[in-house]
Amino acid sequence: VSAFSWEIMSHRRLFLATLSVLLLAASGVAANNTLTRRSAIGGDQRLVSPGDIFQLGLFPLANGTKWYLGIWFTVSPAAVIWVANRDRPLNASSSGTVTLSGAGDLVLLDAASNNETVWSSNSSAAAPSAVAQLDDNGNLVLADAAGAVLWQSFDHPTNTYVSEMRIGKDVGTGAEWSLSSWRHAYDPSASDFRYVMDTRGSPELHIWRKGRKTYRTGPWNGLRFSGIPEMATYKGMFEFQFTDTADEVSYMYHACDGSPPSRVVLHESGVIKRMVWDSAALRWRSFWSGPRDECDRYGVCGAFGVCNEVDAVVCSCVWGFLPRSPVEWGMRNASGGCARSTPLQCGGGAGDEDGFHALRGVKLPETHGSSVDAGASLEECGRRCLANCSCTAYAASDIRGGGGGSGCILWFGELVDTRFIDGGQDLFVRLTLRLHLQSQSRLRSLSQSSLY
Ligand SMILES: *[C@@H]1O[C@H](CO)[C@@H](O)[C@H](O)[C@H]1NC(C)=O
Ligand SMILES: *[C@@H]1O[C@H](CO)[C@@H](O)[C@H](O)[C@H]1NC(C)=O
Ligand SMILES: *[C@@H]1O[C@H](CO)[C@@H](O)[C@H](O)[C@H]1NC(C)=O
Ligand SMILES: *[C@@H]1O[C@H](CO)[C@@H](O)[C@H](O)[C@H]1NC(C)=O
Ligand SMILES: *[C@@H]1O[C@H](CO)[C@@H](O)[C@H](O)[C@H]1NC(C)=O
Ligand SMILES: *[C@@H]1O[C@H](CO)[C@@H](O)[C@H](O)[C@H]1NC(C)=O
Ligand SMILES: *[C@@H]1O[C@H](CO)[C@@H](O)[C@H](O)[C@H]1NC(C)=O
Repeated sequence: VSAFSWEIMSHRRLFLATLSVLLLAASGVAANNTLTRRSAIGGDQRLVSPGDIFQLGLFPLANGTKWYLGIWFTVSPAAVIWVANRDRPLNASSSGTVTLSGAGDLVLLDAASNNETVWSSNSSAAAPSAVAQLDDNGNLVLADAAGAVLWQSFDHPTNTYVSEMRIGKDVGTGAEWSLSSWRHAYDPSASDFRYVMDTRGSPELHIWRKGRKTYRTGPWNGLRFSGIPEMATYKGMFEFQFTDTADEVSYMYHACDGSPPSRVVLHESGVIKRMVWDSAALRWRSFWSGPRDECDRYGVCGAFGVCNEVDAVVCSCVWGFLPRSPVEWGMRNASGGCARSTPLQCGGGAGDEDGFHALRGVKLPETHGSSVDAGASLEECGRRCLANCSCTAYAASDIRGGGGGSGCILWFGELVDTRFIDGGQDLFVRLTLRLHLQSQSRLRSLSQSSLY
């Protein structure tokens, strides 16, 4: 019966409102968003957020053979934003009960196995007076009588983040807010893909597949991630908040008032995707997904390689560098990268100085071995790079305020995963002065030839 009513609800939205009202009325928790020790929900019962934006309850997957406790958008029940018992499904909705334990933890019990606890919030701070509440932002919050938060679903993301939900790290406690994809569309257990904040260097988000990095967003540049120019096109819809302090490194977005439901999902295929609900067409529209193309494949052009999606051959070497293995490069395998054609002088003698070649409009290379000083000017940044023989490049860490930007990122060693991108910024790559001068005159001749 439950599986059948679910089918109707997920496919015939018309029935949804009527049905859920009937079910809720029948269960005596009419539009209630609160769970206490004396109340419980099970079967078809739900918690409903005050504005009926989100619902919490048991939902089926795998043709109704497996049941999970989750939170979903009321307008789109298939858009599940959080799952509690990812690895331990119930066999039937009728056997599940969601309630608060004596200690005050939120628990899912299975009557088919003597009310064994299938899932628990395991809050270290649980209090017997706790109540659980589903908010209109989709957060399930367990709070004590004084209102202090003991546990919240936003601190335990599954494969989705929504407005006001953080991705990143609590540096103090070591807690991490990260995504892990479902195994299949019908199996929400955690698979190999993860979306995590790399806090070293200038922080950025990475997709990992097991021990292998597959994608980077590029570092935060004050406005957006360096590799996601689409973020500049959401004005009036989303606002972004990036926190980089001694206590916390995190990123979140806020949906502006009146903007439609939205979510960002790490899909089973390893693609991270931002979706927005189209209430006229009753479907989710894709606004952005990453990796967006071949050039977003992590390290596709190797060290000191640079990727350009519009070139016939996407990989080339940075000016002053040559392919390390020309044969493989010729066979379109650029992952071996490039090596410097002329060694750096590094103050080797009078007049033997190094300079920089400006790569304009790029997603900045991997920053995790780099050093960041938000207080330095770009000019100072260049001087600092020249003063250290192992410095290979520099760039502004913050492009707000225009000009060349401010702040300083210094790279030491190889430059990995650099690409040209619309709305990209300038990267200054260190070269011997002779090559630097050549690159200047080459740029001059390029701009002259484009005049005619
Ligand atoms: C919701 O449930 C709680 C706990 O059972 C109860 O105190 C409250 O009155 C209910 N609210 C509504 C609107 O039914
Ligand atoms: C669900 O049922 C369909 C049709 O019977 C079948 O093709 C599919 O494999 C089933 N899916 C799962 C996950 O069992
Ligand atoms: C659920 O079904 C599976 C497969 O039929 C079975 O192995 C398992 O014991 C069942 N679990 C419970 C709690 O009944
Ligand atoms: C399991 O818990 C439910 C709800 O608290 C209760 O009605 C039921 O009798 C319990 N079943 C068993 C086997 O303990
Ligand atoms: C809660 O703790 C139990 C026992 O330590 C553990 O088996 C279970 O996986 C934990 N559940 C969650 C959701 O962390
Ligand atoms: C590509 O080149 C790298 C080193 O240059 C080598 O390790 C790798 O095996 C090559 N990949 C393929 C698919 O040939
Ligand atoms: C150059 O920078 C590296 C990395 O920050 C640092 O370990 C090294 O001490 C610096 N060298 C000099 C001469 O400042």
